[in-house]
Amino acid sequence: MGPYSLKVARVINAYRENYNTVTVDVEFDLKDAKAGQFIMFYAFGRGESPITIADYKNGVMTNTIRIVGDVTGYFESVKKGDNLYLRGPYGNSWPLEKAFGKDLVIVSGGLGLAATRWIIEEALSQKDKFKKILSLYGAKSYDDILYRDRIKYWEKEMNFQTILNISDERWNKKVGLITELIENNDLDEDSVIFICGPDPMVKACVEKLTLKGVKKENIYVSLERHMKCAVGTCGHCMIGPYFVCKNGPVFNYSEIEYFYNKKGV
Ligand SMILES: Cc1cc2nc3c(=O)[nH]c(=O)nc-3n(C[C@H](O)[C@H](O)[C@H](O)COP(=O)(O)OP(=O)(O)OC[C@H]3O[C@@H](n4cnc5c(N)ncnc54)[C@H](O)[C@@H]3O)c2cc1C
Ligand code: FES
Repeated sequence: MGPYSLKVARVINAYRENYNTVTVDVEFDLKDAKAGQFIMFYAFGRGESPITIADYKNGVMTNTIRIVGDVTGYFESVKKGDNLYLRGPYGNSWPLEKAFGKDLVIVSGGLGLAATRWIIEEALSQKDKFKKILSLYGAKSYDDILYRDRIKYWEKEMNFQTILNISDERWNKKVGLITELIENNDLDEDSVIFICGPDPMVKACVEKLTLKGVKKENIYVSLERHMKCAVGTCGHCMIGPYFVCKNGPVFNYSEIEYFYNKKGV
């Protein structure tokens, strides 16, 4: 099979997360995949899109898709029993072992929670290996919140905190920016941090974390760039000398900082 060969996966469950986002569970053999990797989904006549593996359990892969254009629009009508065409997994993974014996802090903004969900589950399943696990999630509004059932479970099992940008009468917890959650928690300077979210959020979080004494070498970010091939040949996804599809999407912040903060790179 060549690098662009497609496989077929059957949808066993498809449901709405919120007004613009759907989650699909598909039967797909991913035994060597790791949390942080992504899949290229093909929509006939429309093209391909990279989508993070949001979870994988017992032969079932979960993907969460925000409907923003042609390819992702296809998922709006996907239903149980449909076949999806895809290739992958691609990319690297979250380096969970770097946090063994330390505090692990997972910071997710908006749809970024899709890229951290699996690593949250993995960390929880090995809870004893960390000094502590703290998970911070920022969503724009009450209606944007993802994975409501999983969040209830995570809140019971670990220190999981959610903040909304916009207040809402249905919400009696924190309102503000995710950087405020970072500010309000005691963080060990040796903590290992995983972040996924929009670029401005990632940059603001890194700034706040470094002000609290966390080393940039201990911060890992998952990046999104436009992709075509996903195998390091077309150059669409490059950030400086790095291919986000092949060297990433997870990067050590200290390694990409220069290119990440440079305009036009
Ligand atoms: C490694 C990786 C993992 C991703 N995981 C997910 C995921 O789990 N769920 C999800 O919903 N989306 C994810 N995305 C983003 C997703 O791939 C794009 O939203 C999708 O390709 C858009 O395709 P489209 O044809 O629907 O829209 P288009 O018509 O191509 O684009 C619609 C809008 O989205 C913007 N856009 C398109 N691609 C990207 C991109 N890669 N990064 C930022 N903006 C983009 C365009 O500039 C445009 O404004 C991921 C992207 C990458 C690189
Ligand atoms: S998407 Fe082609 S090089 Fe990364």
